[in-house]
Amino acid sequence: MENFEFVVATKDIVGELIEFEKICFENLPDRFSKRSLTHLIVAPTSRTIIIRDENGKICASVIGLLRHFKIPSGRVYKIGVRPDFGRRGVGSALIRVIEQWFRDCGMKKTCAEVRESNTPSRRMFEKNGYRETNTLYYFYAGGENAAKYWKDL
Ligand SMILES: CC(C)(COP(=O)(O)OP(=O)(O)OC[C@H]1O[C@@H](n2cnc3c(N)ncnc32)[C@H](O)[C@@H]1OP(=O)(O)O)[C@@H](O)C(=O)NCCC(=O)NCCS
Repeated sequence: MENFEFVVATKDIVGELIEFEKICFENLPDRFSKRSLTHLIVAPTSRTIIIRDENGKICASVIGLLRHFKIPSGRVYKIGVRPDFGRRGVGSALIRVIEQWFRDCGMKKTCAEVRESNTPSRRMFEKNGYRETNTLYYFYAGGENAAKYWKDL
């Protein structure tokens, strides 16, 4: 993969993130409100990491959550790569970066939910060592099921 710089998002870029989500997430319910994105940026139990293109525009992002379960676990809550940056290892690189944050925070496992129909994302998680464990029925607005994935850190 090329040498991209990973930047932890701050709340002043929330407007840019909203524009980025419009390009990256075709399902409307998958786009977050300004309020939700701001909360995810500032809350200590979540982290948003972005990559910018050569013109300074956001071309990829990942949001990770910390879950202090019996087994402390990170959750890859949202990940998106602009289509013109697809298939260059950017999504996988973001997964590795957010997993490192999970480890640094003491998380022992990492998980993700993916729309059953989202083959690119499912392949990406599988390629990065995630194992499908179960189905979450009617998980998404509109009724689509999610495939649940887990990985040991
Ligand atoms: C899913 C997504 C994040 C993948 O990002 P990416 O940077 O292209 O991923 P990578 O380059 O790291 O690809 C890793 C593997 O995923 C799979 N993959 C990625 N895009 C794929 C596609 N369009 N079709 C089939 N498999 C695909 C491949 O197995 C790929 O490995 P390979 O290129 O060596 O064959 C990106 O397509 C995206 O943002 N999609 C829209 C938003 C979304 O669905 N997000 C996930 C749910 S929240």
